[in-house]
Amino acid sequence: HEIYAQGLQGHTPEITCNLEALEDAARSHLEPGPFGYIAGGASTGATMRANREAFDHWRIVPRMLTGATTRDLTTTVLGQTMPAPILLAPIGVNSIAHPHGEPAAARAAASLGITMVMSTASSYSIEDVAAAGGDGPRWFQLYWPDDDAVCVSILRRARDAGFTTLVVTLDTWTLAWRPSDLDQAYLPFIRGIGTAVAFSDPVFRTMLDRSPEEDPVGASLRWIPMISRTCRGWDELPFLRQHWDGPIVLKGIQHVDDARRAVEAGMDGIVVSNHGGRQVDGVIGSLDALPSIVDAVGDKLEVLFDSGVRTGADVIKALALGARAVLLGRPYVYGLALGGEAGVRHVLRSILADLDQTLGLAGYRTPTELGPDALIRAPRA
Ligand code: FNR
Repeated sequence: HEIYAQGLQGHTPEITCNLEALEDAARSHLEPGPFGYIAGGASTGATMRANREAFDHWRIVPRMLTGATTRDLTTTVLGQTMPAPILLAPIGVNSIAHPHGEPAAARAAASLGITMVMSTASSYSIEDVAAAGGDGPRWFQLYWPDDDAVCVSILRRARDAGFTTLVVTLDTWTLAWRPSDLDQAYLPFIRGIGTAVAFSDPVFRTMLDRSPEEDPVGASLRWIPMISRTCRGWDELPFLRQHWDGPIVLKGIQHVDDARRAVEAGMDGIVVSNHGGRQVDGVIGSLDALPSIVDAVGDKLEVLFDSGVRTGADVIKALALGARAVLLGRPYVYGLALGGEAGVRHVLRSILADLDQTLGLAGYRTPTELGPDALIRAPRA
């Protein structure tokens, strides 16, 4: 409504309301290195394309005369009340998009009551990002360091800063083959970007001959292998349980057997995700992985979803297929690049308004009313 009212006075929004078109806007705004790092995917980009195509395989079947004039997007995720079934996905190195980085994204999210999952690869420290977040639930994403003392120190700092839910990302124990970054020899971490959590960590600092301030390259070279050569096993999850007393969510699940193993390991939730197509090329669209996983474990732990969400209709499809909430990735980083904190806020308000309107027009008043009967499988071309 605000946008139409401003349109009457000849003002159009500075940033597009079309989240798919944000990528093009960001391309002309960012240097090729950072843009390629954010937009890029594994190898040929087939997984990224599959993520979007998977949404086209499902169509919403709208219902009429349901009285959905007013909606309430409020939901609960792992027992925590959230104003909408949307979180900001953990995305590191935000300062390559905008110098204000993760604290700006956290402030924008907090202004709407939305939870941003803070990444281990953030460009700002745990304490800085926590201070920027609001009073809502705080979630921290872990890239699991191969040094236990560093791991425990990071977990303790996250807990002391008020984070209550831990998201452990499993699919990025080493970086994938990403031609855009390789061709440009661009890796933010080598430049000391996305290392703030480690560089500010008292235990990590004791492992260095020279401080990260004196020798950022040396410190980066010590940190990168610590989180990128560590393919852990299922039998190691009790270690995290021992050192984290809140809910634990495993991110990067695509196979139904892994979802079952997460249940066996006593996890509280999973994120069905292929890291936005950045890790394994030629993977099924993440939404295609969702129904069988929900079937197998949906009543035993909470299932969240990400990879390719761009519209309100996408959110509806993921929820109708059994996801409790979705995580939004690249679009908010493009918003950050284009308009800092206000840009992230614009992106979030756009998808929230789109979800609210589309949900109502489809005939539903709350996200929890959605189920498989809201969709049909679309005939393939
Ligand atoms: C990511 N993602 C990610 N995931 C994670 O667990 N920790 C991280 O630090 C990062 N960093 C990161 C950087 C960039 C530039 C991108 C684009 C993605 C993955 C992210 O959490 C999420 O899974 C995907 O972004 C979801 O896909 P879409 O929405 O980008 O298609």
